[in-house]
Amino acid sequence: MHEAGRALADPTAYADEHRLHESLALLRREAPVHWVEAPGYNPFWAVTRHADVMAVERDHGLFRNEPRPLLATAQFDAINRQRAEEGTGLRTLVHMDDPDHRVVRAIGADWFRPKAMRALRPRVRELARRYVDRMAELDGECDFAADIAVHFPLYVILSLLGLPESDFPRMLKLTQELFGGADEELRRGVSPEEQLAALLDFFAYFQRLTAARRAEPTEDLASAIANARVDGEPLSDLDAASYYVIIATAGHDTTSSTISGGLHALIEHPDQLARLRNDLGLMPFAADEMIRWVTPVKEFMRTAEADTEVGGVPVRAGESVLLSYPSANRDEGVFDDPFRFDVGRDPNRHLAFGFGVHYCLGAALARMEIQEFFAELLPRLRSVELAGEPELTATTFVGGLKHLPIRYTLA
Ligand code: HEM
Repeated sequence: MHEAGRALADPTAYADEHRLHESLALLRREAPVHWVEAPGYNPFWAVTRHADVMAVERDHGLFRNEPRPLLATAQFDAINRQRAEEGTGLRTLVHMDDPDHRVVRAIGADWFRPKAMRALRPRVRELARRYVDRMAELDGECDFAADIAVHFPLYVILSLLGLPESDFPRMLKLTQELFGGADEELRRGVSPEEQLAALLDFFAYFQRLTAARRAEPTEDLASAIANARVDGEPLSDLDAASYYVIIATAGHDTTSSTISGGLHALIEHPDQLARLRNDLGLMPFAADEMIRWVTPVKEFMRTAEADTEVGGVPVRAGESVLLSYPSANRDEGVFDDPFRFDVGRDPNRHLAFGFGVHYCLGAALARMEIQEFFAELLPRLRSVELAGEPELTATTFVGGLKHLPIRYTLA
């Protein structure tokens, strides 16, 4: 059991889905709220059942995001805590609790509502077409994850922010360095200093952006953030930069991992591919099934403000709980045959976007991107197969396939 618990703090476990899901299934069955002590990490409770994850997220007054919103090494926890105390660390929405969280979330919220999504749809469709055309140019063979999926959502999100296309490659590299932190191939360096350097690069870039949008406001999300007022005051540079960072990072790897993992699932389940291609009306269900299947965000954490219990297990004030979304989304008590990929799954009460006050701000955008991409691809796709071994990112936070070699014919 201890080994199963430790898998949650082991980036390489997430690069081996079989091993990961074996551990999670064991925890759900035998110890759904399990105390984990893993070398190099502060201990935490692993919460693996759907109902318990929801219960913790619902009680946001008791279970707070601060001071430990996600799993990091003990060394990083210490650095983050020190930076928070000094007021020099990033403070994104996931680092906040009410009342601040509600006020700051509202600044960006309009940009993700249905009206804004309808306005953005033609641009998303155009970008989807551009990337399917790119597949056609690649002449029947590509690494779908690295050549296609990683670019499309970043272009969407940076378009929404209003950044120039010439800056996109730099943003791509920075988001990969931040999120691929535990992966040998993607990371900039092992040390916390080097990871922090990636964050500081990000920060400097966005600081310049804030200044530019204040000097000359434009019609984009970056301008809304730069010119927002809280209690009559503009956001500090740090708070504005934090906002851009959460939008640029959260809106990118999550969706691209889902698109790669979704295509992989369709390749592995040709009956589901045929079913979806013959009935594109299933697309909204298929997109959500891809999101459940991949669950690109592996965890967030909460810390108990007072003594309480989760699933009948006592949790003391100051102890942290890790919400395992991949586990909740394979919970046998909630999903019929959870290990079956079903493009028509309904209902599909997955928790891949979290739940409650921190529920993913970009959920509607992510759904739209995934739907538009496959709506563009599938009618043109005559055949598709694997052309090599798919490879997953080693991470405990956000990730999915980093390589998906495919061979295909496109009309
Ligand atoms: C928060 C998942 C795409 C922006 C979150 C959370 C999860 C998540 C699990 C935390 C929720 C919680 O604590 O309850 C995903 C998945 C995506 C995706 C699976 C794609 C399939 C996006 C996109 C954006 C975005 C496209 C666009 C900007 C955010 C933001 C937050 C967030 C700003 C913080 C919300 C808050 O703390 O109030 N997301 N996300 N996400 N997501 Fe996403």
